[in-house]
Amino acid sequence: MARRRMVYEGKAKILYEGPEPGTLIQFFKDDTTAGNGEKHELIEGKGVLNNRLSEHFMTGLASIGVPTHFIKRLNMREQLVRAVEMIPLEVVVRNVAAGSMSKRLGIEEGTQLPRPIIEFYLKNDDLNDPIVSEEHIIAFGWATQQDLDDMVSLGLRVNDFMSGMMMGVGIKLIDFKIEIGRAFEGDFQRLIVADEISPDSCRLWDVETGQKLDKDVFRRDLGNLSEAYTEVAKRLGVMPRQNGSNDGPKLVH
Ligand code: TMP
Repeated sequence: MARRRMVYEGKAKILYEGPEPGTLIQFFKDDTTAGNGEKHELIEGKGVLNNRLSEHFMTGLASIGVPTHFIKRLNMREQLVRAVEMIPLEVVVRNVAAGSMSKRLGIEEGTQLPRPIIEFYLKNDDLNDPIVSEEHIIAFGWATQQDLDDMVSLGLRVNDFMSGMMMGVGIKLIDFKIEIGRAFEGDFQRLIVADEISPDSCRLWDVETGQKLDKDVFRRDLGNLSEAYTEVAKRLGVMPRQNGSNDGPKLVH
């Protein structure tokens, strides 16, 4: 097969040119990083799990009318997505205090928040993705006021959907991060959910035991990451074949 043109390589994914204009192929790597790449390991099968899980979440979101970049899964590690102009922000939605918010504000991890809290972080590795306010975003032109309103609305809809889906399998959605892109449709444009939604970008705690089933297992050396992600996939009924026999370019529906 002719080698495809790589468009972008990130820490956990690669984007290739897609088969049609306006499409990209998103490849999920096994690379697992934390602390802006300071900690880095290859965790076999993680990319396969995240490809499946992101497909599951994005398809579910589309079914309730939340627009996403996902078109279809192509194989074990790749999915076809719409090309979008990425907004250079990470949108974090929190239901329970944890991670950087607990550290920054001294709020004990596990404290239920009175309502979902939305934060914006500037995507800039050199600056370690600093938290930014809406004032910064508007003043520096990273997004418009309308974009901000749309991002808040998307974040809350994703939160409600994902919280319900996870609660249905005994998992509490503590927080998550999404990235959003601008899709152009003729003379119109709208914001859609892009990138991935997976246990790499969520905090997921077992409702009964509090066991962490997300990337904190890796960040904090709490055990076997692929076992944790496999548990999430199993509970959701999303299990890839284990023998890799499906690891070819076959299209799936
Ligand atoms: P934080 O507590 O470290 O700010 O993370 C909040 C949520 O966002 C958590 O679910 C992990 C996710 N996240 C990412 O997916 N990528 C990132 O670069 C960061 C900082 C957080």
